[in-house]
Amino acid sequence: MSTPDRQITVPKFSAMKAAGRKITMLTAYDYTLARLLDSTGIEAILVGDSLGMVVQGRPNTLPVTMDEMIYHAEMVGRAVQHALVVVDMPFLSYHLGVHQATENAGRVLKETQCQAVKLEQGPQQLEVTAALVSTGIPVMAHYGLRPQSIHQLGGYRVARDRERLLADAVAAEEAGAFSILLECIPGDVAREISAAVSIPTIGIGAGVGCDGQVLVTHDLLGMTPGPTLRHAKAYVDLNALIVEAVGRYRDEVRESTFPGAEQTFD
Ligand code: KIV
Repeated sequence: MSTPDRQITVPKFSAMKAAGRKITMLTAYDYTLARLLDSTGIEAILVGDSLGMVVQGRPNTLPVTMDEMIYHAEMVGRAVQHALVVVDMPFLSYHLGVHQATENAGRVLKETQCQAVKLEQGPQQLEVTAALVSTGIPVMAHYGLRPQSIHQLGGYRVARDRERLLADAVAAEEAGAFSILLECIPGDVAREISAAVSIPTIGIGAGVGCDGQVLVTHDLLGMTPGPTLRHAKAYVDLNALIVEAVGRYRDEVRESTFPGAEQTFD
């Protein structure tokens, strides 16, 4: 079966860097939002383990399981016709060695229609990355702030070790990663990394020097509780719009003005 021409494949995604075309990526966790995002022509959708916080209301991403990622990825993969869909490997789904990582990442390709996985990288993940790539599983490597290491890092902090970040990015490319996600690192370091590797860098809180950008869609839509994060931008205040719409519905039901004649069958 051939891939439809308009589908962004891993090679097409990678080729965008050489073509000097910026890459747009957003998170999605369900069919409805994934379909809408895909209709805008963005190049990539991430089924992020941020769903642990955004959808499940947990304090961090650590409790998210492989089965939960598959559940959400299956819905997103089914909705998307155009974008490349990358799925986060959750905490402890790839840390116990190549065998465990291959089995779990393989589930993403076998049980969902998504095309790639993302791994938060420590040194031992280079071997895992190489093994997955050799199995035919495309890997996006995630450096900088790594939320799965929150307890070791002592909080969500900007990663500033320039030498380390640069060396890690080069090593990830050598291991076969098709792209590198850079989370919360200084803009000049991200620009330097982007120039040093030939695969696309996708930034979040990493400045405009990356080859593309990713945002948590709920942040972009103004659906996250509390103030907007420094690195995020709310393009609309959906929280307010939803509360306003639901308030109108509540009032109309209480006043018996909904349902009206139009919504009532003869
Ligand atoms: O899980 C996630 O949503 C992420 C962000 C970097 C976008 O990894």
